[in-house]
Amino acid sequence: MQKIESIQAMQQWARSVQRDGKRIALVPTMGFLHEGHLSLIRLAHEQADRVVVSLFVNPKQFGPNEDYDRYPRDYARDQQLLEAEQVDALFCPSAEEMYTPGHSVYVEEDAVSRVLEGESRPGHFRGVLTVVAKLFLAVQPDLAVFGRKDAQQLYLIRKMARELNFPIAIVAGPTVREPDGLALSSRNAYLAGTAREQAATLHRALKEALRLYREGERNAYRLRKVMMDMVLAASEAEMDYIEIVDTATFTPVTTVQGPALALLAVRFGSTRLIDNMELTAEDAP
Ligand code: PAF
Repeated sequence: MQKIESIQAMQQWARSVQRDGKRIALVPTMGFLHEGHLSLIRLAHEQADRVVVSLFVNPKQFGPNEDYDRYPRDYARDQQLLEAEQVDALFCPSAEEMYTPGHSVYVEEDAVSRVLEGESRPGHFRGVLTVVAKLFLAVQPDLAVFGRKDAQQLYLIRKMARELNFPIAIVAGPTVREPDGLALSSRNAYLAGTAREQAATLHRALKEALRLYREGERNAYRLRKVMMDMVLAASEAEMDYIEIVDTATFTPVTTVQGPALALLAVRFGSTRLIDNMELTAEDAP
């Protein structure tokens, strides 16, 4: 695995791979890798000849009172995992390499980035879209793989790729879960004691909404109420939002008529977790 730290060297590597007619897949990460990331890397290998993983804890997507400084990092372990997954190149720029002094150009979406996660975390999606655009320009992949757990991020990255004409296919990988249903996330490392047990309620609530949906419930208020009651029964849970959105527009619905996503964001102490589930008649094959 080649370790590449500068944007220029990354672009040179990409150009030489492209000259050989090979397809590049990018898996962007902030490190502290878990099985969810590894499943995205395996998906990338299936669809491309060369796989690049970026590892960059992006300061621009953390708010001033968020966890940038304490975000979990274990670079040596990440590197071993990536070698075991036969990743071709690890792109790991420094913050100074990505954001030169005086940096003031951003990618900003003006509608969907303001609601839900965007409302709870002002500026978050501006940071995400900016860094993803910069990663696309550095790595020049044919496709990039993102997890479905960050559903609003995935929606916005697809929108950015389409509207800014990035010639890059955006591929979505399924959420990987612990045996009790908790979606894998680097932030799960913060959960201690009973909060860890209680965090599994998020998935149970989403599954209950799906069960009711499949029994014919289409009233979004009632579906949300059932999820809310279940989540708030966990003594350490604090609700941020529970919403049902139209998959095509990411706007909240009152009646579920077409493809929809149930989404929630819940705090356990200072740890904020998100999860979602597609409301579909049948499980994906
Ligand atoms: O999902 C993440 O880990 C990050 O938001 C991403 C896409 C790597 C951008 O920093």
